[in-house]
Amino acid sequence: MIKAIIFDLDGVIVDTARYHFLAWKRLADELAIPFTETDNERLKGVSRMRSMEILLEIGGITMSETEKEKLANRKNTWFVDYVERMLPEEIYPGVKPLLEKLRQRGIQVALASSSKNAKTVIQLLHIQELFEVVVDGTMIVHSKPDPEIFLLAAMRLGIPPKECLVVEDAEAGVEAAHAAGMRCLGIGSPEQLFKAEKVISKTGDFTMEMLHEIEEKDKIGKLED
Ligand code: G6P
Ligand code: MG
Repeated sequence: MIKAIIFDLDGVIVDTARYHFLAWKRLADELAIPFTETDNERLKGVSRMRSMEILLEIGGITMSETEKEKLANRKNTWFVDYVERMLPEEIYPGVKPLLEKLRQRGIQVALASSSKNAKTVIQLLHIQELFEVVVDGTMIVHSKPDPEIFLLAAMRLGIPPKECLVVEDAEAGVEAAHAAGMRCLGIGSPEQLFKAEKVISKTGDFTMEMLHEIEEKDKIGKLED
């Protein structure tokens, strides 16, 4: 029944979620905004500008659009610096063999990341050829939790949404998957990602048996017509 798996990138394929956090933290420190890893959960999966707004909300600061863009660009410069120093070995253990195995089993594999840096990251990791379809932050208007990115990935794969499984580490990503009418496998803590059909701590732990288990589950109640 599940014919395609759509993977998020940051925090699912590679630990770039850490680099996003470090770059936002550096900006938060400069602005004297208290910013913790718990606060950072709200930034995962959402666009750069929305993240900027959430950070300012946390600090109770208002500023002009121009100023916001300038600061978001600064954060991006630091993020890109981290990414450019990243090694292909930084891909999470077991992920590359997993992607290869899924394709061998006839399951289509796509990447759907809100990041405008997604293509650079997968090129640095030498994994671009493992995805049949890649959609990123440059191709969408609304970022997660809006379902746009996952619906675009499904359309490009030519697979109906209810036959797609999303793999996500962000709450906004789980919500986006469900809004698209797709099941979701969460990567991280079950407390954080309780809305997902199943949660595991590492992407590399995924097994084909889990796929069958997830096929039996439907937390949004509208997948089985
Ligand atoms: C992903 C990450 C977010 C990041 C967003 C935009 O969804 O999870 O933390 O803010 O992409 O990334 P970008 O590289 O375009 O700033
Ligand atoms: Mg992510």
